[in-house]
Amino acid sequence: MTTIARKRLYELRQREERRFVSDHPRSAELYERAKNSLVDGVPMNWMKKWPGAFPLFAARAKGAHFTDVDGRDYVDLSLGDTGAMTGHSPEVVVAAIAKRVREGITLMLPTEDSLWVGEDLKRRFGLPYWQFALTATDANRFAIRIAREITGRPKILVYHYCYHGTVDESLVSLQHGVVGPRRGNIGPPVNPAETTRVVEFNDLNALEDSLEGQDVAVVLAEPAMTNVGIILPDQGYWQAARELTRKYGTLLIADETHTICAGPGGCTKEWMLDPDFVVFGKPIGSGIPGAAYGCTEEVARRISKRLAVEDCDVGGVGGTLAGNALSLAAMRVTLEHVLTAEAFKTMIPLARRFNDGVAAEIRKNALPWNVVQLGARAEYHFSERPPRNGAESAAFADFELERFLHLYALNRGVLLTPFHNMALMCPATTAADVDLHTQIFAAAAAELAA
Ligand SMILES: Cc1ncc(COP(=O)(O)O)c(C=O)c1O
Repeated sequence: MTTIARKRLYELRQREERRFVSDHPRSAELYERAKNSLVDGVPMNWMKKWPGAFPLFAARAKGAHFTDVDGRDYVDLSLGDTGAMTGHSPEVVVAAIAKRVREGITLMLPTEDSLWVGEDLKRRFGLPYWQFALTATDANRFAIRIAREITGRPKILVYHYCYHGTVDESLVSLQHGVVGPRRGNIGPPVNPAETTRVVEFNDLNALEDSLEGQDVAVVLAEPAMTNVGIILPDQGYWQAARELTRKYGTLLIADETHTICAGPGGCTKEWMLDPDFVVFGKPIGSGIPGAAYGCTEEVARRISKRLAVEDCDVGGVGGTLAGNALSLAAMRVTLEHVLTAEAFKTMIPLARRFNDGVAAEIRKNALPWNVVQLGARAEYHFSERPPRNGAESAAFADFELERFLHLYALNRGVLLTPFHNMALMCPATTAADVDLHTQIFAAAAAELAA
């Protein structure tokens, strides 16, 4: 197996850093200016995480490509970390939202689109009742509140190294069996050990140990983990985990925000999961803020019983702009015309093409890496075998190597997600886009292995 020489990695990275700076004078200029009015020179803290000395400033994006302010074109395999899984600004979406903008953006009244969207989500995921929020974070938070309210239990359970947005209870870590705030967690309101149990994915014994005290209201889970690399469930894991949650009276939220890549009804439909809630945000409105959470008949009945009209505006669920007319119009057109079953028939084979191309280069260069596909998404990891849980995956994380590979790709016209090595296909992605990444990956791998 090839071992990466760290000195060589450092030198290659320095070379790429210089190239990045000299190729992007306009982004550099805007970044200097941004430092005077934006904290750390970026509109949102995560944007610091892009490789290179400063973030690229985007000018415009269409389909699977975007152009930066220096006039360079890129294949976008990050797609706004799934927010633009629809491709950027599909024409049909542009037309529908332009129409809605002319006809009223937000009213605190329902529009007919909300029914269409609820009915479509019911068909896709099999859950009968739906509510809306503006972000997947909020949808998760609201589902958790409802779960706590109807079970009367205080705790939630998540998987080690999960990410479900900025939900306080989920920004947790597990160190030698002890739960605490995740590294980087800014100002946790309480130690999350008070609110949250954390177990490793694919460990049924740990799950049972954590549920048997019967104080866990709900398990919040991605059906396959996607935020510490892609981690697939073991065969039969979810059937057994579901039985355990039922045995101990705990509810289950399937957060399909990323795993929607598995198909039009996410993993819930593909794998016949049977959750109490489904959460779906990010691309549901092609990037117009919106998210949805669905629940079973029983959950809907139990929560409705507890709601009094007089107090329903102060329950901590919802928001002034949640379910607004623009958001729902964007969701309707996206579900009806963009994230269709037909679209997945082209996106999934492209992810397979990405997967196969990367796997071939890994083998050719004898690198101790692997690549995993989940529907329209694929991701490589720096370990010989695919990880089975968060700790295993995190143990092989290599920030320096990751940044080098991302910068190498960026310098040659391909954008990957800044957090790990994920590539996502949209309906507008082409085989040529995927092959460009494969060529670049091959060149980087050969340079590292030389
Ligand atoms: C699985 C999952 N759920 C929820 C979220 C939160 O989405 P948002 O930041 O749009 O609220 C994320 C964000 O990355 C996510 O990966």
